[in-house]
Amino acid sequence: MRSQQDSAGGLRHLITLEGLARDALTAILDRAERYRRLPGQPAYEGRELAGVTLANLFFEPSTRTRASFDLASRRLGAHVLNLDLHSSSRAKGESMLDTIYTLEAMNTDVFVIRDSEAGMPEFLIDHVAPHVSVISAGEAHLSHPTQGLLDVLTIRTHKRRFTGLKVAIVGDIKHSRVARSAATALSTLGTTDLRLVAPQALLPEEAEFRGAQRFTRIEDGIAGADVVMMLRIQKERMAQAASLDDAAYFREFGLTAQRLKLAAPSVLVMHPGPMNRGVEISSEVADGPRSVIREQVNNGVAVRMAVLASIATTLTRHRRPL
Ligand code: NCD
Repeated sequence: MRSQQDSAGGLRHLITLEGLARDALTAILDRAERYRRLPGQPAYEGRELAGVTLANLFFEPSTRTRASFDLASRRLGAHVLNLDLHSSSRAKGESMLDTIYTLEAMNTDVFVIRDSEAGMPEFLIDHVAPHVSVISAGEAHLSHPTQGLLDVLTIRTHKRRFTGLKVAIVGDIKHSRVARSAATALSTLGTTDLRLVAPQALLPEEAEFRGAQRFTRIEDGIAGADVVMMLRIQKERMAQAASLDDAAYFREFGLTAQRLKLAAPSVLVMHPGPMNRGVEISSEVADGPRSVIREQVNNGVAVRMAVLASIATTLTRHRRPL
């Protein structure tokens, strides 16, 4: 795979958090903090992406990630294309690369891609022009780098540290790109106490998430946790999803106010969305005082602005002269 960074260390692409050093992650988080505005405050408006054209290519459903990239790029002055991919050329059999080359010919500089096929972002960064950048907005069950960044920004805002934190990820970890990217970011930033909590069938392979502890009872997994990250059951990635019983799952693994008392008193409750209330989390907890779920959404826009602005700076070094 080509590097995500250019020879000067500038961010060129973002398809995984693996291989990005602590300093690189911290620089993005610091920049995101400068862009972040609370709901009700006027949004940051800048020109960092003036003259840049960005295409959102989402081949899987998305509400918040797509809206977040759209707003982040517009607030920094980019032109944004949101293609209706269900009726477009891939449905007619055109390869992803031909779609990209067509848009490149229209001076599109940045492609934000969500796809269910593993390996697609890596394939694309090996084939795009030198002045073009690829950002993954979710690759199969493998990687969701901007989600990982917004998760650690949310944790950093409240905890101010990563070492010594006890973080529990609860739910369908096996199919979760969110869990994989969060675990990578946390480990790079110094968190060593990671707990994976799921029914046996939804735990990942032993070789994955090196160093994490595994639990099959939520009560054991969240005991004393500083952060509890809840995940949705990704039925769309399962062959036998119909056999899953939502009510039984909630009884065994649902995060209720009662169970949350087992965690640290200052616990942060996180969820990447979309949430299934009454399945993996109760409404009381989702809307309760320990929930930072909407802060995650707010941080998502700031993190994407920071990633896009860093990439735009790098791209100016690789543009063709007039
Ligand atoms: C997640 C995703 O698509 O990976 N959502 C998101 O990006 N906020 C998680 C999910 O779909 O459950």
